[in-house]
Amino acid sequence: MGFIGRIKEEFQVIQERDPAIKTPLEVLLYPSFRVMIQYRKAHRLYEKGHYFLARWISQRAARKTGIEIHPGAKIGKGLFIDHGAGVIIGETTVIGDNVTLYQGVTLGGTGKETGKRHPTLRDNVMVSAGAKILGSFTIGENSKIGAGSVVLEEVPPNCTVVGVPGRVVRKENQKVPRVDMDHVHLPDPTLEDIHYLQHENERLRSELQKMSYELKDMQEREEKCRRARELAEQKREKE
Ligand SMILES: CC(C)(COP(=O)(O)OP(=O)(O)OC[C@H]1O[C@@H](n2cnc3c(N)ncnc32)[C@H](O)[C@@H]1OP(=O)(O)O)[C@@H](O)C(=O)NCCC(=O)NCCS
Repeated sequence: MGFIGRIKEEFQVIQERDPAIKTPLEVLLYPSFRVMIQYRKAHRLYEKGHYFLARWISQRAARKTGIEIHPGAKIGKGLFIDHGAGVIIGETTVIGDNVTLYQGVTLGGTGKETGKRHPTLRDNVMVSAGAKILGSFTIGENSKIGAGSVVLEEVPPNCTVVGVPGRVVRKENQKVPRVDMDHVHLPDPTLEDIHYLQHENERLRSELQKMSYELKDMQEREEKCRRARELAEQKREKE
């Protein structure tokens, strides 16, 4: 697709995806529009091996828009980055078509991998504000990542993932019951700890209650003995 075609596409994407837009001219002010034009340029240079020039363009765009896209990232059609501030897209990231990212999203690496270090986002994925996707796994088609989540493992298609670490709460538009978490291979250590603590709390509470009944029982028996002794003494004194 030529330059004009790309610009038309960006106009269409932003107008379709942002309900806040009132006039087509506003598109020119969107950081998403500006950064995507620069990214396409930088990516072409990167593919031809002009790494310095490619990085120079992408860093300049990052300073102007707050969105840092490494020129090595592979991005499909219709990416929309709403607001944009603080978005980071790493070098080996792959993004499919019609993906939406909000401000503060990081598509990054964990620092432990080499080669492909960043995530792959399939078509129609939405990543909400502040979410971090770290590692070289795939987020399946049509999946949504909730605001503030930290996703560290593969996400199947058509899922909603929330939390830290990210866990699937909705699959194929059905809520995922918490007991079924293992079925989607996303263990949740925090939830397991909470369940363990709840269980321990119940156990300690019932033990404490048992001990308090026993203590009351002992006190009553002691009181009875004391009274019996007093009565016996009074009786002896009268005799
Ligand atoms: C994840 C999200 C996309 C909703 O997806 P959804 O598939 O409709 O999921 P639901 O709203 O049914 O939520 C499912 C569960 O996840 C919880 N949840 C939703 N978003 C969450 C989040 N960001 N963090 C933690 N839990 C969240 C809900 O409370 C619900 O829990 P419950 O089952 O115990 O009631 C949405 O909540 C979200 O995060 N939107 C943010 C969009 C954004 O970034 N906007 C910025 C504009 S500037």
